[in-house]
Amino acid sequence: MAYGLLNGKRGIITGALDDKSIAWKVALKAKEEGATFTLSNAPIAMRMGAIRDLAEQCEAEIIPADATVVEDIENLYNKSMDALGGKIDFVLHSIGMSPNIRKGRPYHDLNYDWYMKSLDVSALSLHKMLQTAQRMDAINEWGSVVALTYLAAQRTVPFYTDMAEAKSMLESIARSYGYHYGKAKNVRVNTVSQSPTMTTAGSGIGGGFQNFYDFTDKMSPLGNASAEDCADYVITLFSDLTRKVTMQNLFHDGGYSMTAISEEVMQMLQQQ
Ligand code: NAI
Repeated sequence: MAYGLLNGKRGIITGALDDKSIAWKVALKAKEEGATFTLSNAPIAMRMGAIRDLAEQCEAEIIPADATVVEDIENLYNKSMDALGGKIDFVLHSIGMSPNIRKGRPYHDLNYDWYMKSLDVSALSLHKMLQTAQRMDAINEWGSVVALTYLAAQRTVPFYTDMAEAKSMLESIARSYGYHYGKAKNVRVNTVSQSPTMTTAGSGIGGGFQNFYDFTDKMSPLGNASAEDCADYVITLFSDLTRKVTMQNLFHDGGYSMTAISEEVMQMLQQQ
């Protein structure tokens, strides 16, 4: 059911790689809720082509941008404002990548060049997107920026390796920039800490993703939150209903982050 929560709003949605991507679901919901927006991803992801189907469904322009390159981000804001006919009301940062995870390097054997790359792509890119927006005055007053994060920023998940630090940094940037952008332009910045989700980035992390997914599902009183659930939550954060929410890391995980042990997990262990 649509509520018209984003009627008249203009946005930028990054990170839709395929129809499993959280950003893909956010785009479909944003369209349903009345927004117009552009879609962006790294030029290399564009070549995979799936984003074109989404762009068609959402009547959205695709603007390639490597989120680590400031000139690309400038171009993204400029082209988005041209295409949408004005300044931006919401931005989704749905970007994460760790070469160390891709190449199966454990935490005690990280490659430091790749580590820097993980931080640049997955965390610093948020600062670049915010600083560039502020410099260009590309985001409207009371605009909303949301980045997606994961609980490993607070609690150790051994196979999340350098992405744990990337997410800690991402959340810290959201807090710090949320202060400065809030003071300057009433722009809010939040992170949503999402359950494990079956996407390219999600299932790419080591440790047997299906087992991990089942475990967190059994631990969470409400079960894992799906990508669709996440999209619903993100839409509320883009809407005017959450105008005073900023600088927060918001857990969207069916209660997992506050649960120490569940009866289902106890039963699982007893059965072994
Ligand atoms: P995904 O693989 O569909 O999305 C990740 C996106 O990042 C891809 O579209 C990829 O092309 C993009 N990207 C990578 N390098 C980039 C660059 N240099 N410039 C611009 N874009 C770049 O996977 P998913 O799960 O939808 O990931 C979205 C966000 O959600 C990520 O930040 C991820 O860490 C976060 N997240 C995912 C969870 C999961 O279990 N899937 C759980 C919690 C957070």
